[in-house]
Amino acid sequence: MSSERYLSIFSPATKQQRKENFESYWQFTQRHAGELYEDDKDLAEKRGRLKYFKDNPVKLRQPFAPEAFYRNYVEMKDDPNSLDRMTLMLTGMYKFARHEWVGIKAAWDNIPDMACSVKVEEKISRVHLAEEFCHVRLFDEMLRTCGLDNVEWVPLSPVKEKIYEQFPRVPAFVRDSPAFVTELMGVTYYCHLHRLFDDVLAEEPEVRERLKELLDEITIDEVAHVGQRRNFIGPLGMKVSKSLVKPFYTLFFNDIPEIKKLFNVNEMIADGLAFDFNKLPDYMIERSWIPSYCKA
Ligand SMILES: [Fe+2]
Ligand SMILES: [Fe+2]
Repeated sequence: MSSERYLSIFSPATKQQRKENFESYWQFTQRHAGELYEDDKDLAEKRGRLKYFKDNPVKLRQPFAPEAFYRNYVEMKDDPNSLDRMTLMLTGMYKFARHEWVGIKAAWDNIPDMACSVKVEEKISRVHLAEEFCHVRLFDEMLRTCGLDNVEWVPLSPVKEKIYEQFPRVPAFVRDSPAFVTELMGVTYYCHLHRLFDDVLAEEPEVRERLKELLDEITIDEVAHVGQRRNFIGPLGMKVSKSLVKPFYTLFFNDIPEIKKLFNVNEMIADGLAFDFNKLPDYMIERSWIPSYCKA
């Protein structure tokens, strides 16, 4: 549609445009994230937001029975058909966030720290990773908001952990497309999850709004990450990326049994392929970042 404000994330970009967009993103991310606390893998703005949420807690009106959650959150033990939607939603959220956490843990020690970052792309990547650690804390807070205070962040099986550890060592031109598609998958999942809150938490307005606020903090970053990771990729890599959307989404979501029960994976794939920023609310766009070549 010609009246749309933004263009497909798969829109072409020249080398010069990408160079300028890295500079623009770097300016944005310093403003948006605030000071980097490297030893804590944390950022000033996010730390402040999390503190606000913790200082102003909200509670479920109807306490949630956590036994089924704790039995199934690391590994699904029960028949998923026997679980209620709230439990499925929460165990699914944990599993999605856990994959993120494993990936970033491995990457943090394998990329230059800020002091050793020379290129603007390296500095961007350092802040990006710190942001991902903040996302895990925000997910943890979402679970706590639902009364789940005893969640442990458990490593994956040694084989899967090894695979994630190798990823940062893969040459950039091979790594860039999967890294971009993973960010895109995050935004797709978070947008669908946001809608699911309305349905699953219909009777819990306070917690529903709080979970949306917590999730928005993440989604706003992830929208910026999508553009930023796209910016690493040339024309051939963008073709590869587009062809990876379907297999990646399918593989990843099949690994989390809750996802099929709660979401339509085909719709998520279609949303990933069609992603162009236009469906995002203004309050998110205002706080996020979009590459110049995706603006109409
Ligand atoms: Fe993230
Ligand atoms: Fe991200």
